[in-house]
Amino acid sequence: MGRTIEPKGHIRGDVKLEGDKSISHRAIMIGAIAMGQTRLENVPDCDDCGFTIRALSDMGVKIGSRAGTTVIKGRGLTGLKAPGKPVYLGSSGTSMRLLAGILAGQGFEAVLTGDTGLLKRPMRRVVEPLKSMGVDIRAEDNEHPPIFIRGGKPLAIRYSMPIPSAQVKGAILFAGLYAKGTTTIKEPVKSRDHTERMLRFFGADIDVEGNIISLRGGRELAGKSFSIPADISSAAFFIAGASMLRGSRITIRRVTINPTRAGIIPVLKKMGVRIRISKKRDLFEPVGDIMVESSKTKGITISAGTAPSIIDEVPILAVIAALSKGRTVIKGIGELRVKETDRIESITSNLKNMGADINIDGDTMIIKGAERLHGASLKSFGDHRTAMAMTIAALAAKGSSSLDDDACVSKSFPRFFDTLDALTA
Ligand code: S3P
Repeated sequence: MGRTIEPKGHIRGDVKLEGDKSISHRAIMIGAIAMGQTRLENVPDCDDCGFTIRALSDMGVKIGSRAGTTVIKGRGLTGLKAPGKPVYLGSSGTSMRLLAGILAGQGFEAVLTGDTGLLKRPMRRVVEPLKSMGVDIRAEDNEHPPIFIRGGKPLAIRYSMPIPSAQVKGAILFAGLYAKGTTTIKEPVKSRDHTERMLRFFGADIDVEGNIISLRGGRELAGKSFSIPADISSAAFFIAGASMLRGSRITIRRVTINPTRAGIIPVLKKMGVRIRISKKRDLFEPVGDIMVESSKTKGITISAGTAPSIIDEVPILAVIAALSKGRTVIKGIGELRVKETDRIESITSNLKNMGADINIDGDTMIIKGAERLHGASLKSFGDHRTAMAMTIAALAAKGSSSLDDDACVSKSFPRFFDTLDALTA
């Protein structure tokens, strides 16, 4: 379904958002292969986490929801059951890549598949390292889903990652849980470290020194009870809206501020956004309350080394840059081409339609800021983050805009429009 978006004066309010999608996938999966019960609060009611839950339920894990708490009856490291049918993961790349690592250690054969979008996503990046661990795994035409996997006893490896990818790293670490000996991973640049933190929290034998992670396999994990912090990737849309719309002020409670993930915070500070973090706490992940006020922003250059920590926020960052004084250069964002859609293309074409001056040079995005964007006919390309980023751009534009498809936001943030309505009321 489409919708019309009218410009808005400001965003104001104090919100709690649903739990972080990346962290939730890991909490659910690790809970499923831990011993005993795991109780999770604030798991988002989003499509992708639903696919992870359904997949594990199909493999014999009892997962239920009681008064907002997700309860998982863990079956131990090798306790999953053969699904008996292909495991359908919708468009969730994270579910597919991470589950491949867990299936590497189960004693059965499984097929991982998904929707037409997921069938186009690259999987060689996860198939190759798992193969080198001795896992019997293959992908269609060596690259795309379905993935066919026969679990067994993975071998510990030393792996130097060619690209920083938290999903690939997570899959190798999960497979490493089943290996005898130490699996070591070296990353070119540190990607989000949610898997490492969550594994340690559940009792895995894991060490991290800079960009090198070592995991000794063979140790059973123990179920945990905790609350998932709010998703910085969802928060980023309201942070951007508040910074761009005059007279805005919002507070978002208990958000992930993990530096490997929340690179958007220092980047926005550098651009001049008035953003303050309070009530910092270090649970199994660092969290804090984020307060943002409308701000005058300026363009900056963002290095390729920063890219992994802002990769999902580049669409909304490009929107802020389009309304900032001067030039913003975002380097090293080639991975955006293989997300749910080619996000370099989806963001560039939409922002150009709104009158922005935005160009691509290889893996670099160059945006010259303007005083104003104008309303336009916007396309989501079926991509949740493009839809949400362009909705925020439309709030700050002159004249009304239309968005062709708003249903896709349910992939990560089904309550996006309701929350936005409450904040702009
Ligand atoms: C994710 C890692 C990132 C990110 C994706 C979620 C994760 O992808 O873009 O939305 O939860 O591990 P890559 O692992 O491909 O970098």
